[in-house]
Amino acid sequence: MKNGLIFLGPPGSGKGTQGQVLAKNLQVPHISTGDMLRQAIADKTALGEQAQSYMDKGELVPDNLILDLIRERLSQDDTKNGWILDGFPRNVAQAEFLDKLLLTINHQAKWTVNLEVPDDAIVERLLLRGRNDDTEVTIRRRLEVYEEQTAPLISYYQEQGKLHSVDGHQAPEEVANILQDLVTA
Ligand code: AP5
Repeated sequence: MKNGLIFLGPPGSGKGTQGQVLAKNLQVPHISTGDMLRQAIADKTALGEQAQSYMDKGELVPDNLILDLIRERLSQDDTKNGWILDGFPRNVAQAEFLDKLLLTINHQAKWTVNLEVPDDAIVERLLLRGRNDDTEVTIRRRLEVYEEQTAPLISYYQEQGKLHSVDGHQAPEEVANILQDLVTA
C-alpha cells in the first residue's frame, strides 16, 4: 500500500510551500494541479488553452480537464513510495473520484491536512507574491470558490477519520515542523 498526503486549505494557506518541503523530506513527488495547469498554459497545450480563462477568473477548471491528469500522474513510477497532492481534490466530485481511483491502484490517502489561515492574512500574502491570479478581485473570488466548493471536503475527510487541522498562520518553519511530526508519528 502506498501512502499519500492530501493538502486542503484555502488559496495562499501554504499548500505549495509546505508540499515542497515535505516532498523533499519524504522523497515523494509533490503533485500540484495548479502547477500542472500553469505548465500546460506555458506550453500552449489544448489543456492550457481550455484552463486559462477559468484560472484568470479564479474559478475552478471543469472536472473533466483534471481527472485524467490525476489518474495518469498517480500511475507514474515515482509515486511508488507515496505522494503529496496539493490543489486536488477541490470539490466533492473530485474527492469521490480520488477515493475510487486510489482503491483501483492500491494507494491510500493516509493524511489529509487542512491548513487554516485567516482571509486577511491570505490576501496580504498573495498580493505580496503577485502571481497572475493574485489580484485582489481574483483572490477574493478564489476565496469564495474555496468556501463554496472546497471547504465541504473538511467534513468529507473528517467523516473518514483522516482530517488533521493545522494552524498555517505561523512561520513556515513552524508549520513544517508540525507536519514533519505528523507524518513521522
Ligand atoms: P492553485 O495553484 O492550486 O492555487 P491556490 O489553491 O489558489 O493556492 P496558491 O498556490 O495560491 O496557495 P498555496 O496554498 O499553495 O500557498 P503557497 O504555498 O503558494 O490553483 C490555481 C487555479 O488552478 C485555481 O484557481 C483553479 O482555477 C485551477 N485549479 C487547480 N487545481 C484545480 C482542481 N483540482 N480543480 C479545478 N481547478 C483547479 O503560499 C502563498 C504565498 O504565501 C507565497 O508567497 C508563500 O511564500 C507565502 N507563504 C506560505 N506560507 C507562509 C507562512 N507560513 N507565512 C507567511 N507567508 C507564507
